[in-house]
Amino acid sequence: MKAVLIDSEHQLKWSEVPDPALKPGYVIIQVKAAGVNRADLLQVAGKYPPPPGWPEWPGLECAGIIEQAAPDSRWKIGDRVCALLGGGGYAEKALVPEGMVMPLPAGCSFNEAACLPEVYTTAMLNLVRLGELKQGETVFIQAGASGLGIAAIQIAKLVGAKVVTTVGSPDKAEAAKKIGADVVINRKAETVDEVLQQNPIDLALDCAGGALLGKCLNAMNPGGRWILVATLGGETTEIPLRVLLKKHLKVIGSTLRSRSDAEKSEILKQLVELVWPQVEKGTVRPVINAVFPMEKAAEAHQVLAQQKNIGKVVLTLP
Ligand SMILES: NC(=O)c1ccc[n+]([C@@H]2O[C@H](COP(=O)([O-])OP(=O)(O)OC[C@H]3O[C@@H](n4cnc5c(N)ncnc54)[C@H](OP(=O)(O)O)[C@@H]3O)[C@@H](O)[C@H]2O)c1
Repeated sequence: MKAVLIDSEHQLKWSEVPDPALKPGYVIIQVKAAGVNRADLLQVAGKYPPPPGWPEWPGLECAGIIEQAAPDSRWKIGDRVCALLGGGGYAEKALVPEGMVMPLPAGCSFNEAACLPEVYTTAMLNLVRLGELKQGETVFIQAGASGLGIAAIQIAKLVGAKVVTTVGSPDKAEAAKKIGADVVINRKAETVDEVLQQNPIDLALDCAGGALLGKCLNAMNPGGRWILVATLGGETTEIPLRVLLKKHLKVIGSTLRSRSDAEKSEILKQLVELVWPQVEKGTVRPVINAVFPMEKAAEAHQVLAQQKNIGKVVLTLP
């Protein structure tokens, strides 16, 4: 089969690799589409290796058709599915633990379904499980027009929370409002922490970190939870410790990829239970920015690198 390998010059190459072999507890998916995530760019740069046991090529999510499954598997050959992966989605086939496979929501194309596993699971994990977001609370979501940001806004609105979000341009602001954000901050034109002072927050889903994190803690309500999922804005900050003490704040770091397959399978069960019916109704739907043939993965990565995308970029196979 073919897969998108990363060569020694950090370039993506559509290359021949051995077919995966079925093993107990796993299925093989014939990949029809794979979602592109910011983490894939880090992996290409050599900064985010796959967890042990997963292929060396990138791809945290895919959608396709079950090609091989054990006779006692809950999946049958021909089932239309999508899956969360530790890596290896940029390929014609993926070997996946059964528990990380989900049915394709009714009415979803392969391209749409390939955009669901990584960002909706991340949103669910951090907003609902770790963040315990409640109806009526206010949540701050950095990068509201990103793949993750859009998923998080949709999940937060399902819970009944007020959403304050950041974007980097007017067209992204418009998109975030359309998706349901209540307050949209253009981070390049406004002072984010000042806007938050006027909209005190209970929970943050923060992919930026950096100096802003420390400044924004002042704008949290007592009992607030600040969840850091990436450090796009910098790896260090100054934290006002007395604010942490007085307000009983929690600062939590969280990555999905480094969790065990068993824990991921648990979160996926909750995702299918709570979010799939909404996808089927159309109240939750991924936004696709661009679609590329899989062998053009390098071009797809450029879209994310230039921070142009509103929503997800998808790689497809015939
Ligand atoms: N920990 C986890 O488990 C986990 C899982 C999934 C994703 N993530 C992280 O979540 C982020 C979004 O992922 P994605 O795949 O959806 O990425 P994406 O679509 O590429 O979006 C990234 C966006 O972040 C915004 N941004 C860049 N620098 C920023 C800064 N300094 N401050 C605030 N915003 C900034 C930009 O949008 P604007 O210009 O509009 O602000 C950029 O387009 C990535 O950092 C990713 O690594 C973490």
